[in-house]
Amino acid sequence: MTHPLVIAPSVLAADFSKLGQEVKDVVTAGADWIHLDVMDGHFVPNITFGPDVIAALRPHTDKVFDTHLMIEPCDPYLEAFAKAGSDYITVHAEATKHLDRSLQAIRGLGKKAGVSLNPATHESCLEYVLDQLDLILVMTVNPGFGGQKFLHSQIQKVENIKKMIGDRPIRIQIDGGITPQTAPLVTNAGADTLVAGSAVFKGGTQESYRSNIDAIRSAVR
Ligand code: DX5
Ligand code: ZN
Repeated sequence: MTHPLVIAPSVLAADFSKLGQEVKDVVTAGADWIHLDVMDGHFVPNITFGPDVIAALRPHTDKVFDTHLMIEPCDPYLEAFAKAGSDYITVHAEATKHLDRSLQAIRGLGKKAGVSLNPATHESCLEYVLDQLDLILVMTVNPGFGGQKFLHSQIQKVENIKKMIGDRPIRIQIDGGITPQTAPLVTNAGADTLVAGSAVFKGGTQESYRSNIDAIRSAVR
């Protein structure tokens, strides 16, 4: 199963003082999805925003809202992120004691379910939940901050996951250090959904967002 390429800019690298406008600009510039990085200062050493900010952004675009929860625990907040307008909700395998239950809860809320793996986490933890997944997020940096260096060690993991999922219609998403240089390494390994923060929002104008997105797209073509 191959999915069309999706580029999901992470608003973590946008100007937080005008987030609504940034979302509109990056959509006009060619973003397929909007990636929303939620951090709690506990599971990861940084704090960003919660469901109220996502709900406030929701009227600014019809594009898919791809919510990446870096929070522990996650279960008590799934409903709030669903109500805020997320389309995908991705939890970290390391941040929930009962991954199967968390995934059931996300689908029970009518949302697409994703699992994210930190760089040191083995993909074998996905084996018994594959049929409950819409997306697998392979972190190619340690979560918490934008602008970090891509971890080449994760390319093998992407290849292994691609084999594991077989014909299941599961997207393979990559997050961290994606640039026109690193993007082809992961799409060649089987990834179809690319998150990019600093590589998209550098320049700070809609025109630069467009050429940044185009550069990633043409690098994987
Ligand atoms: C990191 C976040 C990423 C981050 C990626 O914890 O999950 O989505 O924004 O930023 P770049 O693309 O700058 O590595
Ligand atoms: Zn993310």
